[in-house]
Amino acid sequence: MRELLQARYGHLPFEPSEGRAPEALRAILDRRVTRRFAPRAVSAETLGLVIAGAQSAPSKSDLQQYSVIAIRDAATRARIAQAIGTMPWIADAPVFLLFCGDLRRNRQIGARAGMPNANDSVDSFINATADAALALGFATMAADALGLGTCPISYVRNHLDLLRDLCALPAGVFPLAGLALGWPLARNESSARLPPSVVLHHERHADADPAAIAAYDARRPLMKPRYPEVHGPAPDGCRWSENVARQLSVPERPGTREWLRGQGIALG
Ligand SMILES: Cc1cc2nc3c(=O)[nH]c(=O)nc-3n(C[C@H](O)[C@H](O)[C@H](O)COP(=O)(O)O)c2cc1C
Repeated sequence: MRELLQARYGHLPFEPSEGRAPEALRAILDRRVTRRFAPRAVSAETLGLVIAGAQSAPSKSDLQQYSVIAIRDAATRARIAQAIGTMPWIADAPVFLLFCGDLRRNRQIGARAGMPNANDSVDSFINATADAALALGFATMAADALGLGTCPISYVRNHLDLLRDLCALPAGVFPLAGLALGWPLARNESSARLPPSVVLHHERHADADPAAIAAYDARRPLMKPRYPEVHGPAPDGCRWSENVARQLSVPERPGTREWLRGQGIALG
């Protein structure tokens, strides 16, 4: 337990009791993304187990407002990887799972029951997004338990038209993220997280202590700077918080609301 907490935070944020962590918790604490995959197929049964894991996630009101598109076709994966340009692991992994919020299925159920849909709303959008995100998280854990590796890919949302066309996404269905899935060739380093003192609030929210953020920055390796063309090159690399500020200074996917509207999701 000590070692796993130490790796997760880059320091020991509290003294755990003696003893070995339960196996399921060990797997969670030790998780990291995989970006190097072996050229080895994932069987239908293995994929089925990953999806069973995904579907074991909780779902808001049991509405189950998500769908997963399994993309095995090498040409389709290559097309997505090529559009994104910087993430060859999308083409290398034998399966690419596209996790989508899906408001369509239940709209159809409502229409068949002859009832109006009074919930084309931001709240429904949040619910579907939460369902899809939880499913992605549970798929990740199921994959890890089977010895597979995964890497979520939000960059699919930089190419919404392409993903809609490749996967025939109809009205009411929107991509949340992809998940590259396959057998790992190498394990990434564990990536240290913000200290729980910053993330866990007791009874009331409290702003983060800048000193705690600075201490966290010092525990993280220097990173490739984001947006060097806007904020300069940073040849020695960037601290985590500088990269956060760099990333947030440039609007990301400003057309998403309009795209959702075109996809029949009005966010009213
Ligand atoms: C919703 C989501 C989207 C992500 N999108 C990408 C992506 O487009 N490309 C990528 O290589 N990694 C992506 N990641 C992986 C994160 O970069 C990674 O989880 C983070 O750096 C922490 O590393 P760790 O998961 O190994 O602890 C994404 C993760 C999440 C949860």
